[in-house]
Amino acid sequence: MSVLVTGAAGFIGFHTCAALLARGERVIGVDDVNDYYDVSLKEARLAVLKEGGDFTFERLDIAERDHMDTLIGRHPGITHVVHLAAQAGVRYSLINPYAYVRTNVEGHLVVLEACRKLDGLEHFVFASSSSVYGANAKLPFSVEDRVEAPVSLYGSTKRSGELISHSYSRLHGVAQTGLRFFTVYGPWGRPDMAAFIFSRKILAGEPIPVYNNGDMRRDFTYIDDIVAGILACLDRPPPADAGAPPFRLYNLGNNKGERLMDFIALIEKTLGRKAEVELLPMQPGDVKETYADISSSQRDLGFHPAVTIDEGVPRFIEWYREYYGA
Ligand SMILES: NC(=O)c1ccc[n+]([C@@H]2O[C@H](COP(=O)([O-])OP(=O)(O)OC[C@H]3O[C@@H](n4cnc5c(N)ncnc54)[C@H](O)[C@@H]3O)[C@@H](O)[C@H]2O)c1
Repeated sequence: MSVLVTGAAGFIGFHTCAALLARGERVIGVDDVNDYYDVSLKEARLAVLKEGGDFTFERLDIAERDHMDTLIGRHPGITHVVHLAAQAGVRYSLINPYAYVRTNVEGHLVVLEACRKLDGLEHFVFASSSSVYGANAKLPFSVEDRVEAPVSLYGSTKRSGELISHSYSRLHGVAQTGLRFFTVYGPWGRPDMAAFIFSRKILAGEPIPVYNNGDMRRDFTYIDDIVAGILACLDRPPPADAGAPPFRLYNLGNNKGERLMDFIALIEKTLGRKAEVELLPMQPGDVKETYADISSSQRDLGFHPAVTIDEGVPRFIEWYREYYGA
């Protein structure tokens, strides 16, 4: 298997590349290593990937058509794609909306357009998000639910990616699967996400911002479970069923909505320090609760998330302390 992984310097991309390399696959990683968050963390992830295995890295912007076409020409034999590059983050989409449309809509199209011309392409897997469920009142969120009410531009652009992909499966017969991830955390995580922000601020003795006065639930999903789901999916391209395009969507979540305050209590316990909590109102673009129905992912992909927050949070903190010497 020769796998093109976009967003390879990112949190999920890094772990996906590492797992593919450990399996003996050839991996071509792509990332523009932008400064949405600490570039040195992205560089450090890449340094680990370059240590071993059949790994090649190309630094480029996926929304640049010429660059993507040249890249595909330079690496013949790609059989699989894991497209993870995105402008992530719900809150930043209020500040810089254009970055989301450029990477998550235009960039998604450019990657698809470059990859559909590959002779040996067997499966194109791409990242979507629980954010597509937006104001969905029904819990747990199911891939059967209508998703026409996003509450953030981030959610709108991830849904746009799904729709663009669906049309490419129908028009060009590209076998594709979209994976809707639910609040992923773990070692080498993203500095703009809860586990990271809370740990950093608690250790620095700063107050932690807690939105909606703490009345939130999240389906926190450990990175190893997500990567296991991505690899299981990659190995199972969807068939073209009678008349329907070879296209599927799945939720990858923990199937367990956890109270945010319990998550914070676990971080406090692991760090051995009490947090100073700053209770704040709900943020625009945010949702009160996320919780994944994973019945189809269990059935079709054998996806069984195994890591509870009681195990996952200490593993994250252990990495954090070691990496930052904190
Ligand atoms: N982490 C989560 O909880 C979560 C939840 C739902 C969905 N997702 C999705 O999973 C994917 C990976 O997320 P992540 O948490 O690893 O985020 P991340 O920000 O750590 O990784 C994304 C990577 O893409 C790169 N990138 C951004 N724009 C690019 C461009 N134009 N060209 C090339 N590279 C570009 C970034 O430099 C970054 O390294 C994204 O598609 C995201 O939308 C993540």
